[in-house]
Amino acid sequence: MALYNAKFSSFGSFAPKKVVNNFDLEKLVETSDEWIRTRTGMFERHYTSPDEAASDLATQAAIHAIESSSVKYKDIDLIVVGTVTGDHAFPSTACIVQKKLGLKDIPAFDVSAGCSGFLYSIDVARNYVENGTMKNVLVIGVDILTKITNWTDRNTCVLFGDGAGATIVSRAGKNEISHIIDSAIFSDGSQGDLLYQAAGGSRMPASHETVDKNLHTVYMEGNKIFKNAIRSMFASTDEILRRNKMEAKDVDWIIPHQANLRIIEALAEKLHVPMNKVIVNIEKYGNTSSGTIPIATDEAIRTKKIRRGDIILLTAFGAGLTWGSVLARY
Ligand code: UT7
Repeated sequence: MALYNAKFSSFGSFAPKKVVNNFDLEKLVETSDEWIRTRTGMFERHYTSPDEAASDLATQAAIHAIESSSVKYKDIDLIVVGTVTGDHAFPSTACIVQKKLGLKDIPAFDVSAGCSGFLYSIDVARNYVENGTMKNVLVIGVDILTKITNWTDRNTCVLFGDGAGATIVSRAGKNEISHIIDSAIFSDGSQGDLLYQAAGGSRMPASHETVDKNLHTVYMEGNKIFKNAIRSMFASTDEILRRNKMEAKDVDWIIPHQANLRIIEALAEKLHVPMNKVIVNIEKYGNTSSGTIPIATDEAIRTKKIRRGDIILLTAFGAGLTWGSVLARY
């Protein structure tokens, strides 16, 4: 049972400097700016340099979120990082971020839920705050998919970019209107083989053969994921609206995972929501996995599209398969 309301105190984001556009990718694989734009809506994406890892991006996004809020570093009770491309298999990227932020004696852990990692992490944070255990949880979504990309596979290599976004989920005051109304997360492990990284874990440890066969990179059955994405994001948005006795028309902003503009448009159509109520920045970042939703939300807040008091609906899907939605009054 919830003793308190949880709210989003602030957002922050960070993308690495290097920008690669569709014309750059034409030089790498048999593709075209026209194909990428019309099939995905993407134009540019940010790539990390060889010496940058997930915790570097995550820490910058976290600093941005903390310094945009009234929460002090010492008031953070927990760090949760949604990622599938952490610095190492262990320790967790959350622990590395903790060290970089100089925060001691608080718990920190990662959540593995593919591109849904940020929303899964919000769900975790919200529960800690609502049950009174924690007051301020730093939640980060970060991925560096370019480090696990097969650069000879045009089906996947044009899609990904790197980036991080963060929020602070805080206890809301009794009379505050800002609060997380609900969150709903789901998974279906039986479809895990549609999108995965085969090697590097205990099933298939690294060997010369796994490297030669490109098994440390993303494998994706794009078409099946595409159909699942529309179905699952619609199912979770529909469910969360219905159980809170709301309709899509009551929502000011939908912020979907940015994997493909056609997926986003299909979702908007199924929800009967005009595209001017949907936050889209896929043309500038590509698919940054767990990073897409917090980066898009942060940008929309900074450009004053999303304002305090607006109803926002975040929705994602990803490897697992996983999917989910978060409904909030910002
Ligand atoms: O973040 C969560 C995980 N990821 C996703 O959500 C991605 C979901 N899937 C998608 O966004 C789309 O399925 C893709 C963008 C990956 C692919 O688009 P599609 O419309 O489903 O294309 P397709 O896979 O059906 O391929 C159509 C054609 C094929 O050629 P043929 O067999 O018809 O001759 C592909 O080989 O497009 C070809 N193709 C390309 N052509 C130029 C695939 N990739 C490229 C490319 N450039 N980069």
